[in-house]
Amino acid sequence: MLAAHFDAPGGPDNLYIKEVDRPVPKEGEVLVQVHASALNRADLLQTRGYYPPPPGASQIIGLEAAGKVVALGPGADGRWKIGDRVMALLTGGGNAQFVAVPATQLMPIPPGMTDTDAAAIPEVWLTSYQLLHFVGKVRKGETVLIHAGASGVGTAAIQLCRLAGVLPMVTAGSAEKLEFTKKLGAASGFNYKDEDFGTKCLEATKNVGADVILDCVGATHWQKNLQCLNTDGRWVVYGLMGSGEIHGDFLTLLLRKRGSLLASTLRSRSHEYKEELVKAFTEQVLPYFSPGGSIQLRPIVDSVFPFDQIADAHRRMEANKNMGKIVLQIPV
Ligand SMILES: NC(=O)c1ccc[n+]([C@@H]2O[C@H](COP(=O)([O-])OP(=O)(O)OC[C@H]3O[C@@H](n4cnc5c(N)ncnc54)[C@H](OP(=O)(O)O)[C@@H]3O)[C@@H](O)[C@H]2O)c1
Repeated sequence: MLAAHFDAPGGPDNLYIKEVDRPVPKEGEVLVQVHASALNRADLLQTRGYYPPPPGASQIIGLEAAGKVVALGPGADGRWKIGDRVMALLTGGGNAQFVAVPATQLMPIPPGMTDTDAAAIPEVWLTSYQLLHFVGKVRKGETVLIHAGASGVGTAAIQLCRLAGVLPMVTAGSAEKLEFTKKLGAASGFNYKDEDFGTKCLEATKNVGADVILDCVGATHWQKNLQCLNTDGRWVVYGLMGSGEIHGDFLTLLLRKRGSLLASTLRSRSHEYKEELVKAFTEQVLPYFSPGGSIQLRPIVDSVFPFDQIADAHRRMEANKNMGKIVLQIPV
């Protein structure tokens, strides 16, 4: 089969498509023929040698895929059958024509949805759902500040906030991105490059602050985060795009707010945790992707690249140009 490959760690130029062995599904796994996959920041980091796959995971990049079931490993029968259209949360291996995945990490593609839209769902929607509900334990009526509001995770989080009756506010680096997030449901938006989002967020919440902050930026935002975190608020760190090295009186300010600092990664979680997450998302959220309900969720696809243009897809993400997901179309 064809798969994304790099011989040595480096930038997008190192990526190319190579013929490799097709994976064989192990106990409890299903073999999926991939029709579309999508990019995540983790792929960029892994390609540069900064984010090695967890032990036992595929060395091939790609944390999500959409396609169809083509084989069942031992013990994987019952839940899925050959030909089912599925989308998968992966620990790796998605940027390839076939991927073996635990049956418990598959979800049905909502009826009528294209493979390219479906590929934009698993990683960022499950991450956002996990951060809001499993980690941040957000409650109806609360406010959430979402950094990188136009990112894959951010665009999902805005919609999930609205679904949960929670008020989403965002930061982003351009007026165009803020406008985009507003259309998705953001109640307020702050350009962190030329506005003091700490002060602006307090103004927008009548000096109360955000009950939850979803933070994939880290060090460069820490003081403003503590400025606009509500008393007893939860600050959920899940990425460090602005570095992880903090200097200053961090604990004093955290203590004054009685703030809870929480941190989460999804890729390294156990099979059991991912199974629980996928099950909850499938039951609580997936129905809202089908037309006709009171709230309509939609995967946000920024762009679709043919598989052999994967390096260009990575360049677009590295340049922070995307709003929503960059999808790869995999040849069948
Ligand atoms: N912990 C987990 O389980 C988990 C799972 C999935 C993703 N993540 C993390 O979530 C984050 C978003 O991922 P994604 O795939 O949704 O990203 P994405 O779609 O590529 O969007 C990332 C956006 O973040 C903004 N950004 C980049 N560098 C920044 C900086 N130094 N300071 C402030 N903003 C910056 C840029 O938008 P602007 O133009 O607005 O600056 C960029 O477009 C990444 O950090 C990723 O590693 C974590």
